[in-house]
Amino acid sequence: MRNGDMIEVLQQGLQDEMNSAFQYIALAGRHGDLEQKQDFLRYAADELTHAQKLLQVLDAMQAEIGEIPVSLEDQDDLYLFLIEYMAREEAAVFYYEALENLLQLPDMQRMCREIRGEEQLHLRQIRELYQHIKEGGVHDQKQ
Ligand SMILES: [Fe+2]
Ligand SMILES: [Fe+2]
Repeated sequence: MRNGDMIEVLQQGLQDEMNSAFQYIALAGRHGDLEQKQDFLRYAADELTHAQKLLQVLDAMQAEIGEIPVSLEDQDDLYLFLIEYMAREEAAVFYYEALENLLQLPDMQRMCREIRGEEQLHLRQIRELYQHIKEGGVHDQKQ
């Protein structure tokens, strides 16, 4: 893969991570009980750490980083949002699997495996929350 293409792949990942962090922070502000808010904030913190790690890789490649658009998505319906975010977390798992194959250095490959493990955990936990809500077991405290 050409260097420029690699940088593009990394920048896309960076943008996705920053956006995910942003959505989860907003989600904690709008939805969930105390425990769920803690979970959303923890996901946000994880995604921010992932973004920082991708930035380090870009820095190591001496990439020039352009503007990274970050915007908040509609979060009125927690149920629909969780469906969307299960798909996003699943995509993140695949992304880091692919990135591990693209990056040649063992350190960077280890980093990809670590992040992928965290994305898998996000996916599992969001799926559990989705199931709870689906079964009517959770009262959303949205005002
Ligand atoms: Fe992430
Ligand atoms: Fe995630």
